[in-house]
This record gives sequence, structure tokens and C-alpha cells, in this order.
Amino acid sequence: MNTAERAARVMARADELATHSAMEGGILRAYLTPEQARVNAIASAWMREAGLRVWPDAAANVCGRRLTDDDDRPAVLLGSHLDTVPGAGRYDGILGVLVAIEVADRLRDADLPFALEVVAFGDEEGTRFGTTLLGSRALAGVWKPEWLDLVDADGVTLRDAATTFGIDPERIPEAARTPESLVAYLECHIEQGPRLEAIDAPLGVVSTIAAAERRMISFRGEARHAATPWELRRDALLGASEAIVAIERVARDRDGNATVGRIRVEPDAVNVVPGFAEFSLDLRDATAAARDSTWAAIRHELHRIAGDHSLDLDVTTTHVAPEAPCADHLRAALKAGISSVTGEDDPVDLVSIAGHDAMAVAEVTDIGMLFVRCAGGISHHADESVLVEDVAAAIDAFEATVLHLAATHRA
Ligand code: GLV
Ligand code: MN
Ligand code: MN
Repeated sequence: MNTAERAARVMARADELATHSAMEGGILRAYLTPEQARVNAIASAWMREAGLRVWPDAAANVCGRRLTDDDDRPAVLLGSHLDTVPGAGRYDGILGVLVAIEVADRLRDADLPFALEVVAFGDEEGTRFGTTLLGSRALAGVWKPEWLDLVDADGVTLRDAATTFGIDPERIPEAARTPESLVAYLECHIEQGPRLEAIDAPLGVVSTIAAAERRMISFRGEARHAATPWELRRDALLGASEAIVAIERVARDRDGNATVGRIRVEPDAVNVVPGFAEFSLDLRDATAAARDSTWAAIRHELHRIAGDHSLDLDVTTTHVAPEAPCADHLRAALKAGISSVTGEDDPVDLVSIAGHDAMAVAEVTDIGMLFVRCAGGISHHADESVLVEDVAAAIDAFEATVLHLAATHRA
């Protein structure tokens, strides 16, 4: 099969996986759901066809290892995720798994100085339980037992969801790999930004994955009749609205990245001054220090706004991740891989503002990431799209990266 045919197969497979969704008119696949079970079964079959021995790990990730790697040599892992946000596109995460399968298929008989594995993670987005990267953090050996008590929107605990899915919640930590069992983790992913398109490059190399932090912030005031005069109101939604505008101003001034994506109001009635408002805050920056300094400035504004409207402020942190730098030797291997395909002397380096499984896997081994151009930088949306020729370039470059790593590993 030539590269163009493989790229066409990746596009067709992405279309097929997109049909497995928990929502009408869009894609939604969350952790430990029937949709995950279905795509895990399909990906397992594709991995077997690619010459891999396949097993589900204890955290419901799908893993495959070349049949020829029947020893305990440390492995290079190629991976990404199969879960999605609500209303997702069909390539975020999925493309990386499908490209990894093509590369493993091509290298099924190659003489490599390390084992080669593919992994399809079950939870990168955190759509169901609020906390992200559950699949990759289990593999990285940093699973926290208290996560079993996380609940989804229907009040189902992660513990019960795992049992219903068919894995033993108490044994999830057994998905952990040791540093000695791994050589490196390489992930191919759509860019989810407009920079590759702007410079007319199909592929780029990630230098660092941004530090991230998620919080739930609430203001509590007092619910009152809509007839209440201004001076007697303690309007929690007014406070939240001012906070959202202040967050944008502070983050823009510092060239940081901040998103308020959810808001909930009580009692949520047209003729009642809102007594309670809760909203999410997702903060990202190239370094944890820059992110923390932006948060300090935002927190100052939140306290000022609470004081102005006589509101009680509460902040809960739900996710903290430091920046995850990609290893120099893997960046070099990825650049060599890209150069061999595109002929560029020095393929572009990009900071990833989006989070990835690689940032969890960085806890246990070196990481490297290949970015693929996506149209308009659109992601987490049904309009997410990639060019089939860019997918072909990604397959060739990812394979060349593994071969470059093999050559330098031997040396
Ligand atoms: C995942 O896509 C994230 O960056 O939050
Ligand atoms: Mn995503
Ligand atoms: Mn992703």
C-alpha cells in the first residue's frame, strides 16, 4: 500500500469512528462509555491487522505491540486518544492513533533496536469526569485513587462507570508503565491552531506543551425579586459577568490564554436576581510561572468584584499541569523525519497551547510531538478538517522519525 492509499484509509477510518457518538448531530465520546467500548473494539481490530498483539490495559486504553517484539525490550510508544469533547471534530486525537497504526503496519518487519507499540488512550479531554488525561495518567503511573470518587453529570462515580465498562476500578493503577520499560513516547496530533496554515507548512514540531490549570469559581449573593432596587441587590451573575470581562483583559494584557467555557446560575429564573453563579476558568501559558502570575492578577480582580457587589467568592482548583517540554533528541528526530519528507532545512517549532496525552506520559518517559496543519486552526468543532496530502506527509514523517530514532539509538 503506498502512502496516498494509507492516507486515504486514515481519512476513511476517521469517518467511521465519527459515527460512534453519544449525541445526535455531532460527535461525543467520553471515558468508560458504550461509545468508547465500540471504538476500542474497532481500533483493536485495525491494530491486529497492522501486525500488533493487542490488549486493553487496566485503564481501558487499547495497547498493541509488534508480534516480533515478543521480548521485554523497552518500547517506543506511538499514541494519542479516541475520546472527544461534545460536538467534536473527527481528528483531534483520532488522527494520531490512526497515523500510529499506519506506521506500525509499515514497520511490522523492520529490524528496530527497541520494541514498537501503539496506544489509544481512553480519556484525554476530561469530558465526563472533569479531570483530564485519565487514560494517559494511568499509563504514566500517576493515577490517584481518589479519582474513583469523581462523578459525572448524572451522578455516576468513576468507580461505578469502570465496573459497568468491565474493568476493575481498584486495578486501574496496573496500567502503569515503568521508565525502564519505555524508550520514548511520540504523538502525532492536529495543530488546533492557525500557525502552520499561516506559513504554508503541513507539519511542525512541538517544543513545549503549555502549562495548564482549571478552576471552578463561584460568587454567592442573594436571590431576590426582580423588583429589588439596585442598592439592595447582591447579584452573583453581575459579579460573574464582570469577572469574565476582567479575565479577558488581564490575560490579553499578558499575552496569556484564558477561557471561561461554562457558567451556571441559580435560581435561573427570568424574574429573580441571581443569588449564585459558578463558572469555569481554563488558564494556559508557555510556563507555569507565567500562568501563575496571570492567575494572581485575575484573583486580585475577583476579590475586588466580590467586594464591589457584596458577594462571597469561592475557588476550587480541578486540574494543574506544569509545562511539558519535548525532549531535544526527539525534537531533532522529528525534524529529521519532517525534513526527509518536505525538504525543509529547519521545520518550524511550535508551543502547543492545547493539552495532550504527551504531557501526562512525560511523567514516565521522554516525549516528542508532530503537529499536522488543520484548516483555519478550527478544533473542538465539527468543522475540524485536515488535508489528505498532509496526512500522507505525516505518515511518512512519523515513520522516518522512528527510523531516525532507531539509527541514533543504535549509535
Ligand atoms: C484538550 O484538547 C485541551 O487542550 O484541553
Ligand atoms: Mn481536544
Ligand atoms: Mn487532543
